[in-house]
Amino acid sequence: MRIALLHGPNLDRLGAREPEIYGSLTLAEIDARVVELGRELGAEVAPFQSNFEGAFLDHVATLPAAVDGIVINPAAWTHTSVALRDSLAATGLPFVEVHLSNVSAREEFRKHSYLSDLAIGVVYGFGVESYLLGLRGLHSHLTAT
Ligand code: DQA
Repeated sequence: MRIALLHGPNLDRLGAREPEIYGSLTLAEIDARVVELGRELGAEVAPFQSNFEGAFLDHVATLPAAVDGIVINPAAWTHTSVALRDSLAATGLPFVEVHLSNVSAREEFRKHSYLSDLAIGVVYGFGVESYLLGLRGLHSHLTAT
C-alpha cells in the first residue's frame, strides 16, 4: 500500500509559525511520525509540500499512477481552491483531509472547505494526531475495500 502525504502552503514553516495554534513540531518531524506509523501499518508514505499551487496540482496529477490514497492538509487552499478540489476529484483516489488546528473554532472563513464533501473523512484539532488518525482511517478504508 502506498499513501501520498500532502501539505499545502506555509506548512513548511511549522515549528516557527504560530506555535500556539499549530504546535512546535516541524514539518520534517510530522512527516517522520506519519512515515513511521505507515511502516507499522505496512504502508509506504510519500510526503510532499509546496507553496506553489500549480506545482501542487501537477504533483496531484501524478498520484493515480503512484499511490492508493492521499492524506492531505490543504492549509489555506482548503478555503479558497476550486482548482485543488477539481484536481483531487480527477484522481479518483480516496483522500482524508486533516488540519492541525480546530478550524471550526477559528475565523468564519476557515469553517468552509472546498474539499470536505469529497473526502472519505476529515480530522482536525488534534495537532500531529490529526495526521495519524487520518492515516489510520485511510488505511482501514483501503484495507476494507
Ligand atoms: C490548517 C488550517 C488552515 O485554515 C490554515 O490556513 C493552515 C493550516 C491547519 O492545519 O490547522 O495553513 O490547515
